[in-house]
Amino acid sequence: MDLSRSAVLLLLLLLAVCFPCSSAEDQLAVGEKLLAEQTLVSDGGAFTLGFFSPDDDDPARRYLGIWYSNPGHRTVVWVANRDAPAAGAPTLALANDSSLVMSDADGRVLWNTTGVGSSSSQTAPAELGNDGNLLIQLPDGTVGWQSFDHPTDTFLPGMKVRVSHRTGKGDRIVSWRSPDDPAPGRFSYGLDPGTSLQLLMWNGTRPYWRSPVWKGYAVATMYVSAGTVIYTAIVDTDEEISLAFSVSGGAAPTRYVVTSSGKFQLLIWNGTRSAWATLQSWPSSECTTYRHCGAYAYCDTTAAPATCRCLDGFEPAKPAEWTSGRFGQGCRRKEALPPCGGGGGGNGVGFIAMPSMKVPDKFSLDAGNRSAEECAARCAGNCSCVAYAYANLQSSSAKGDVSRCIVWAGELVDAQMIDPRWGGETLYLRVPAAAASTSPGGKASRNAVKIAVPVVASALLLTCIFFVWFCRYRDKRRKTESQKKLMPGIRTGTTNTSSEIGEGDRTGDLEFPSIGFGDIVAATDNFSKTLMIGRGGFGKVYKGTLDGGHVVAVKRLSKDSDQGAEEFKNEAILIAKLQHRNLVRLLGCCTEGGEKLLIYEYLPNKGLDAILFDSGRKSVLDWPTRLGIIKGVARGLLYLHQDSRLTVIHRDLKASNVLLDAEMRPKIADFGMAKIFGDNQVKANTRKVVGTYGYIAPEYSTEGVFSDKSDVYSFGVLLLEIVSGIRVSATEGIMEFPSLISYAWHLWREGKAGKLVDPSMAGSCSQDEASLCIHVGLLCVEDDPSRRPLMSSVVSILENGSASALSLPTPVQPAFVEMMGEKSQRSDLENTRNTMAMTVLQGR
Ligand SMILES: *[C@@H]1O[C@H](CO)[C@@H](O)[C@H](O)[C@H]1NC(C)=O
Ligand SMILES: *[C@@H]1O[C@H](CO)[C@@H](O)[C@H](O)[C@H]1NC(C)=O
Ligand SMILES: *[C@@H]1O[C@H](CO)[C@@H](O)[C@H](O)[C@H]1NC(C)=O
Ligand SMILES: *[C@@H]1O[C@H](CO)[C@@H](O)[C@H](O)[C@H]1NC(C)=O
Ligand SMILES: *[C@@H]1O[C@H](CO)[C@@H](O)[C@H](O)[C@H]1NC(C)=O
Ligand SMILES: *[C@@H]1O[C@H](CO)[C@@H](O)[C@H](O)[C@H]1NC(C)=O
Repeated sequence: MDLSRSAVLLLLLLLAVCFPCSSAEDQLAVGEKLLAEQTLVSDGGAFTLGFFSPDDDDPARRYLGIWYSNPGHRTVVWVANRDAPAAGAPTLALANDSSLVMSDADGRVLWNTTGVGSSSSQTAPAELGNDGNLLIQLPDGTVGWQSFDHPTDTFLPGMKVRVSHRTGKGDRIVSWRSPDDPAPGRFSYGLDPGTSLQLLMWNGTRPYWRSPVWKGYAVATMYVSAGTVIYTAIVDTDEEISLAFSVSGGAAPTRYVVTSSGKFQLLIWNGTRSAWATLQSWPSSECTTYRHCGAYAYCDTTAAPATCRCLDGFEPAKPAEWTSGRFGQGCRRKEALPPCGGGGGGNGVGFIAMPSMKVPDKFSLDAGNRSAEECAARCAGNCSCVAYAYANLQSSSAKGDVSRCIVWAGELVDAQMIDPRWGGETLYLRVPAAAASTSPGGKASRNAVKIAVPVVASALLLTCIFFVWFCRYRDKRRKTESQKKLMPGIRTGTTNTSSEIGEGDRTGDLEFPSIGFGDIVAATDNFSKTLMIGRGGFGKVYKGTLDGGHVVAVKRLSKDSDQGAEEFKNEAILIAKLQHRNLVRLLGCCTEGGEKLLIYEYLPNKGLDAILFDSGRKSVLDWPTRLGIIKGVARGLLYLHQDSRLTVIHRDLKASNVLLDAEMRPKIADFGMAKIFGDNQVKANTRKVVGTYGYIAPEYSTEGVFSDKSDVYSFGVLLLEIVSGIRVSATEGIMEFPSLISYAWHLWREGKAGKLVDPSMAGSCSQDEASLCIHVGLLCVEDDPSRRPLMSSVVSILENGSASALSLPTPVQPAFVEMMGEKSQRSDLENTRNTMAMTVLQGR
């Protein structure tokens, strides 16, 4: 008795002692003081807030700051009193009006934040988040103050660098004065407040380095190492335009910093070496610093080393200086423009197109929403216009403008030529008609359209930078993996694919195994029915066990592909190059005796549909798992559309083509089929539409027109299926509505989107996340393809979570599926069942 009572007392005592200390660790309550030697540590332990001295020789100079907790690297990411160091023992207190006050030993205020006018009875504490943000959240849920809104020299995941559309004012990340002096230094970084269309780094007040000009809402994806992906996004809302970045879960600490020596760097922590590794650093060379090449010249970064050149139609102003490497005087026209004036203005002039350029600075944005022809005509018709550039803004989601026309009137400075694979856009220079490659309004415009389309696909800010990394990483990984991970017991044939793939000297030879037909017959027990694990429009899939026990999936393509064996093999090699953790890996191929076989990794959990739509098993998929599947499929699709250089459109994304690995991570299957089968099925000329009923976008099923936006549509349908657990082709369970899509839309409109959530996982479901997903899903299934977001936007929205929900447009009613009505659905449904996975609908 006594013993148990004292045990209880001891427990109570422990609780009493421990509770306040654990809750106080990451928080500073009103009236409390943080003393000189005390710290706050974020819940999760990543960041610490406290006082530090940057210079060991001068320990008396103390600053309030936030740094990474890991003892191996006390890297300061934020400083409060940048130019007012404390001499004695400083303290930090939170006043009852929610203002933070840092004072020195004598009580002198060195730094403070503005409080909120009325101090409510219940003032919230200041809390250090595990993202490194010191936050005071007001009782009404709004942010009273946060350190993320007051960056110093470091840009962390979750932070935003903004420019307000209303005031034109923007955030700046400002370097330290020197490595041991946090006072504001010379160099700063932020969005160009003049145009909001580019990022600038300044040395004092002068531009020092400039990013490419932005061409729409975009996400840049950078693959650092297996499992570490960095997403950088530009988000344009009605109020502001901002730059933000995030990293994939579990990634090592990652930050951008503006150094005191004038570099803007992306760094990631390398635990093995206990040091920061520099992933990128700008400016990358002297040639790429602002205006290094002078007027009417550009830095050619495709040359090694990068060097200055004159724009087409121009020659060095001072040839002697130019050849000796002094480029400051720039270039001048070889041939003067004819006198301009009077009415037309366009006579006697034309344009030279320079593709793959980081276009010059000092442009002005012509009124939006023009066609390429109109943009050319605007420039041709204005005597002071010397150049223009036109971009299609299909990727700019929220705004009405579908294009961007920018024009230059004065000197052309700070242009760059970029490797075409890394992005850039076409610059049209005004020249005398005789020197022109295109005439205004006519041929020029057609060229503009032709060039604009591929450019848009890679219209990512900073694409170039990410691309280098991506190539490097992939090449390295493939070299090791193709040796290590490809199946033992397979004869590997070496195929040189570098020319086909256009990688030039970047890739060495690629090991791609060609597997003997006999081996496959043995592995699949002569294509035994009992080993068949799937069937689709492209052929049958068998489970096979190769020599050495390696289990694979073998896809035997149906013979109606009119591709030759060599062509097929080349395609397969291309597809094998598409490697992403959310794509099923292609391991090899076989082309013997008219047979075309593809060998894939085998995934024991099979298709998502087998679990998602099975009332007995669907509870395995709780909400976090489903959200992980949605995000994974989105990333895989983004990779196919944008990041892989091949621009693969899947055309048959559906639940059964999403396979799950042992950890329930999704892998998209059948993604290369459109390529493998050649373009004839892709274009409308065969009048055949390939796809599965319910997942096919309206414009595809009625007009045979498809694009990456048709895949976005299928993704939207899949997303709604995953959230609701209802098959798009289901006839039961969607009340009186003709389809899952219209059911979802009506629930959404009535503010009851939560009712769509699959009851079997309602317990684990976050309403905010589910509602964001449904919102995104409904945007993806809009009838008008141009209103659907690109996968880059989808990934960005999903990664940024509900914070991004506010800026999303409202989905419009999906009229098409409702108009189609039930009759046409039923007949197609028959068709779907007959061919199991694949339906071939007849186009118009
Ligand atoms: C807030 O603090 C000020 C000064 O410390 C004090 O005069 C005031 O009474 C306090 N207000 C409340 C509501 O506690
Ligand atoms: C510090 O407090 C003063 C007085 O409340 C206020 O005027 C000033 O704006 C505050 N400083 C900052 C940086 O908010
Ligand atoms: C920055 O500007 C200052 C003054 O104009 C100049 O002395 C310095 O060299 C510049 N720094 C760099 C890295 O260009
Ligand atoms: C860390 O550095 C070591 C040594 O340079 C290198 O081998 C390793 O790949 C690096 N790790 C990461 C995750 O980059
Ligand atoms: C011609 O271009 C200049 C510079 O962009 C601009 O200021 C001017 O208004 C334009 N003129 C016409 C008629 O559009
Ligand atoms: C731009 O043009 C497109 C189609 O030409 C139109 O749908 C859109 O409303 C226009 N946007 C604005 C802001 O005028």
